[in-house]
Amino acid sequence: MRILAIETSCDETGISILEAKGNTIKVLANELSSQVNLHREFGGVYPALAKREHIKNLPILLEKVLKKTKLDKKEKPVDMIAVTVGPGLEPALWTGIVFAQELGKKWGVPIQPVNHMEGHILSPFGKVKGSFKITKVKQPALSLLVSGGHTELVLLKQNGKYEIIGETLDDAAGEAFDKVARMLALPYPGGPEISRLAEIERKIKQENIFKFPRPMLKNPTFDFSYSGLKTSVLYTIQKIKNLDQKTKALIALEFENAVIETLVYKTKKATEKYKVKTLIVGGGVANNKHLRRTLKKEIKNTTILFPEKDLTTDNSVMIGIAGYTNFVKNKGKVPRPNTLKAEGNLRLK
Ligand code: KG4
Ligand code: ZN
Repeated sequence: MRILAIETSCDETGISILEAKGNTIKVLANELSSQVNLHREFGGVYPALAKREHIKNLPILLEKVLKKTKLDKKEKPVDMIAVTVGPGLEPALWTGIVFAQELGKKWGVPIQPVNHMEGHILSPFGKVKGSFKITKVKQPALSLLVSGGHTELVLLKQNGKYEIIGETLDDAAGEAFDKVARMLALPYPGGPEISRLAEIERKIKQENIFKFPRPMLKNPTFDFSYSGLKTSVLYTIQKIKNLDQKTKALIALEFENAVIETLVYKTKKATEKYKVKTLIVGGGVANNKHLRRTLKKEIKNTTILFPEKDLTTDNSVMIGIAGYTNFVKNKGKVPRPNTLKAEGNLRLK
């Protein structure tokens, strides 16, 4: 079956057309329009602006994928539409949902609602181009989801359901990267920039004059917290008279070390407690080199799956994968299109 997948939960508009058969999926066309440059001015995502951009971009990207696949003259170009319904920014989510509803009606095809986080969990199986297989992972499996909006440890249960065993009590890891970058007057999104500075500094191997807390390490749960760490960085910066490049880099290094240490510590504890055989890492922060390196070093006897670089951040291929998987699982039973609604705080279950 052919699937049109739509993603508009945050600041990326994504549309792709996938061809799925059995457990094999082929990407026929994949388009992404990032609003990162627009939101840079605000140092974060500005919901009203995101909504306006999605509305502008959706028809443009749709035309591109239909032309590319030569399906533009067909009355019914796809058999199903998969669309993100949450979690995310509600005004942004609604743009994708309404667009899907209009197309579903025009083409007479069902709409499969998708949880954006399930998309991230399935992203390591995907590719931005060509075909790939959705394979069964060795159970028990655990997913570490680290993005701008979420920091979660999710158990994948035998029955196909999910259980969130730990999550951030305040800021998400990516959000902390973005906020600290802003304090250091580094561009948005902050993660890649902080990581770039930290990687250079880490190679020099010297004593760091900065020391930040490792929040929640002594807390017995699998939860995280990053707002205290962020405040600690803020107080440190406020005391510095000359925030030169070297100082910024040392702060970036110590901050990154603190975030990654806590992420890896809790993830490792969870893999031990649940005897995890497969660890799936997803979300924008899954790009972080220090995170990848430290997870591989600390967690042995567990297969660790990471997505391709372009599938770590938001995209519609992962939404198509999650949509197809659910469509098959539910034997094509989907909710009535007019009952679909954006759920900013939608949780995995
Ligand atoms: O998954 P994503 O595209 O959006 C959400 O669904 O939130 O993740 C974006 C987040 C941003 O906060 C960004 O700073 C962070 O991922 N990020 C990184 C890196 N690359 C992206 N954080 C740390 N290190 C990186 N290399
Ligand atoms: Zn995301």
